[in-house]
Amino acid sequence: MAYADLYQNSVSPKIKRRDFLFIATSVVLGAGAALTAWPFIDQMEPAADVLAAGGPLTVDLTHVAPGQQVVVRWRSQPIFIVHRTPAALQELKQPSLLSQLRDPQSQQLQQPAYADNWSRSLKPEFLVLVGICTHLGCIPGYKPQLGDPQLGPAWPGGYLCPCHGSRYDMAGRVFKGVPAPLNLPVPPYRFAGDTSLVIGENPAGSTFALSSVEQI
Ligand code: FES
Repeated sequence: MAYADLYQNSVSPKIKRRDFLFIATSVVLGAGAALTAWPFIDQMEPAADVLAAGGPLTVDLTHVAPGQQVVVRWRSQPIFIVHRTPAALQELKQPSLLSQLRDPQSQQLQQPAYADNWSRSLKPEFLVLVGICTHLGCIPGYKPQLGDPQLGPAWPGGYLCPCHGSRYDMAGRVFKGVPAPLNLPVPPYRFAGDTSLVIGENPAGSTFALSSVEQI
């Protein structure tokens, strides 16, 4: 498939995944247009001491409309937060989609136990992911439209990695037949209120650490 061809042609065998992650992140963060295209929320730039400590980050989701994604930075990583629509949630359960996914039941440790469910989330309407492709570390593009013209009439909504074509669904689950081996990780998070999201802290009773996942 074209994904494999693109992969072969694009990545020098001398570039290791960690190097590629650094390069790709630098490129994206250096592109002002890309950043301003993302919906901006106040919490995107917390106090410097909070960033330095890698402490929890509180995000107000009040104005994140259904279908919209916002991206915040936590521990120098892009965190995708999506307000999923009922239609998007319905797609996640379709047998025709599940049969195309590499790990549809999230059996590999890429999420905390409280997100090890059909929606990979605490609240089905809100998806929270580490936005780093599990292939070589590019930042996947958000493609929520059902039947996106670029991805074909059967596209269920999700993500397309611009580097070598890996695809993920609207729960961050990776498709078969693409270079990325694993689902996108889910970071630790909890809700402090209906629409108050705290990234970096678990719900009471959980001790999940992002470092425990198989791969970021
Ligand atoms: S980095 Fe290769 S497909 Fe995403």
